Amino acid sequence: GHHVSSQRIRFQRRNRPCRYDIDRFTPNFLSIFESLMPSEEEIAKQKQLLTSLSRLINTEWPNSKLYLYGSCANSFGFSNSDIDLCLSIDDKEMSKVDIILKLADILQAGNLQNIQPLTRARVPIVKLMDPETGLSCDICVNNLLAVVNTKLLRDYAQIDRRLRQLAFIVKHWAKIRCVNETYQGTLSSYAYVIMCIHLLQLRRILPCLQEMEATYYVKVDENNCAYFDQVEKLNNYGAHNRDTISRLLWAFFHYWAYEHDYTRDVISIRTGRIISKERKDWTRRVGNDRHLICIEDPFEISHDLGRVVDKFTIKILREEFERAANILQFDPNPSITLFEPY
Ligand code: CTP
Ligand code: MG
Repeated sequence: GHHVSSQRIRFQRRNRPCRYDIDRFTPNFLSIFESLMPSEEEIAKQKQLLTSLSRLINTEWPNSKLYLYGSCANSFGFSNSDIDLCLSIDDKEMSKVDIILKLADILQAGNLQNIQPLTRARVPIVKLMDPETGLSCDICVNNLLAVVNTKLLRDYAQIDRRLRQLAFIVKHWAKIRCVNETYQGTLSSYAYVIMCIHLLQLRRILPCLQEMEATYYVKVDENNCAYFDQVEKLNNYGAHNRDTISRLLWAFFHYWAYEHDYTRDVISIRTGRIISKERKDWTRRVGNDRHLICIEDPFEISHDLGRVVDKFTIKILREEFERAANILQFDPNPSITLFEPY
């Protein structure tokens, strides 16, 4: 027939080699990365806020512990991002909502500002602003899995600097192109970082820490979280591979535009491989989980980070991956065009 289907175009582009002059753009991408990095001063302020809030909360709840998690602790945070904190507290008498309300009172007494307890959110939190440092933050309760996956991401970032470079640029692209909004059916920053780790595992730039002998172990709810965390011993792991950030960015978008098999595959950094939807029983819609792009959470393995994506937003996402892949392949100024607002 005369009809060339989009499937066929994808198939033809699948084996397309990277443009030969891709490395011309490496300095541009690296300077974008550096402009997004938080300063030492900002990191010091975040630590200061953690210390002062811990002190305040501990006077009321001596057995509680406050943890930083999310972008300010996983090393994938941009400058000026909000701070995510998690209060770990073992109190059988109080519900999460009671804890949130009491926490709001404690913060009020401690002179913090703009305190808002959001008890009806899917994850109940208290929002606040610290007048001392000018920082805003959200505090959730007993979400220890997030604290542990934050450590996993931070540990991966220490093995090869290219992970942080790649994930910063992918997150920056996703925010500008409006595909980083879970409540609108696109992907979380956490999901994008996992996609970057997976790509680097396939290229043997990163190992699979959860497949190695465990040196770190915690059980959170019913999830066994175990992996090799002595990452300072692995800082030569990816040295045999000399791919630059430009080439990895091209590979990332090329993979999600033309190589990933959306009907069959699940990416899994837990195993360092692609596994099948069949094996996970993620082949059909169950409730609101549609499994149109499958990204396995490293610890909560029944959780598909792509489950928020629906039949409309999958199209938007895939078009954005194709746009990015084509810009990196052909555009004379990819480090500018890639980040043109949607
Ligand atoms: N998280 C999670 N499961 C998800 C989404 C998020 O456990 N499905 C946890 C992770 O610990 C993650 C944290 O919540 O590090 C914050 O998630 P997110 O806002 O997506 O990532 P940030 O790194 O905070 O990115 P941003 O800079 O966009 O705020
Ligand atoms: Mg965040």
